[in-house]
Amino acid sequence: MHKICMTEDVPEREARSFETSEGNAIFVTQRDGVFYAYQNLCPHLQVELEFLENQFLDREQEYIECSTHGALFLVETGECISGPCQGQALEKIDINVHSDGGIYLLNE
Ligand code: FES
Repeated sequence: MHKICMTEDVPEREARSFETSEGNAIFVTQRDGVFYAYQNLCPHLQVELEFLENQFLDREQEYIECSTHGALFLVETGECISGPCQGQALEKIDINVHSDGGIYLLNE
């Protein structure tokens, strides 16, 4: 298992970008104490989601937002609920929060 970061690196209702050992751009966010990870790739035009570093959430920090055309995605599932790729979804990454406080990728 490949360690991405520690839980304290990703505060509640914030997000952080990381690169996997295979060079994939991903990000991790926390909502209600649960961590979620996705590929940093908008299903609309296959571009990275953020314009500013680690800026993956909308102004209210309620949804994941693509900075290019403003698509909104549910934090828990990655489903696009508004914007040009409505009905599509971000690609979820399987992670595991270990008792040592580390967040690990399950498939690397
Ligand atoms: S590229 Fe993300 S909404 Fe268009």
